[in-house]
Amino acid sequence: MGINLGDTFPNFEADTTVGKIRFHEWLGSSWGLLCSHPADFTPVCTTELGLMAKLTLEFKKRNVKMIALSVDSVKDHHGWSKDINHYIGESQVQNLPFPIIADEKRELAVQLGMLDPAEKDCQGLPLTARAVFVIGPDKTLKLSILYPATTGRNFNEILRVIDSLQLTACKKVATPVNWKNGEECMVLPSISAEEASILFPKGIRTDDLPSKKGYLRFTPQP
Ligand code: BEZ
Repeated sequence: MGINLGDTFPNFEADTTVGKIRFHEWLGSSWGLLCSHPADFTPVCTTELGLMAKLTLEFKKRNVKMIALSVDSVKDHHGWSKDINHYIGESQVQNLPFPIIADEKRELAVQLGMLDPAEKDCQGLPLTARAVFVIGPDKTLKLSILYPATTGRNFNEILRVIDSLQLTACKKVATPVNWKNGEECMVLPSISAEEASILFPKGIRTDDLPSKKGYLRFTPQP
């Protein structure tokens, strides 16, 4: 099983560190970031959840609610949260600024295609890979990335891609290689020259290419 871009994200019910949630109701009108983790009390995951906590303001600015998941219990999640807060220098703080889902039966892991067959727990059960799901306010899947357990994510890239998703959701542009918020964008190939001149009053620069097709059109970020 798995989920494709554009699919409605399942409105699952789950036990979390903030109690039982139904995903759509919990998300409300925000964007969502769901990150899965192989297991509690593991080193790479600890660095990732620590950075997620430190980036709370960055995600808030973008109207993104974060939620984590691993296959351990709520009790373990609470114990692990204390370790994570200690690691980031917040030893007085008990809870993380986002919930962690307890997917002990691996129901969500199977439904969302997150299991990593290469990583098993001590009972031989598969652990979750490092999935990244970005869900839009319309509850559809906007982005998915799957990392193996042995490779930690890059949260600069996750913030960058959210900037692109939010920009391209409302403006008729695409973002080029290594784009960062504020940099030049590409005019969508489907936009005619006439429409482009109205939509992008800051101007359009077209690179001349051997094909003369005029498709490489740059515009300042609208
Ligand atoms: C970790 O988070 O460090 C980890 C978890 C499972 C396998 C490898 C690394």
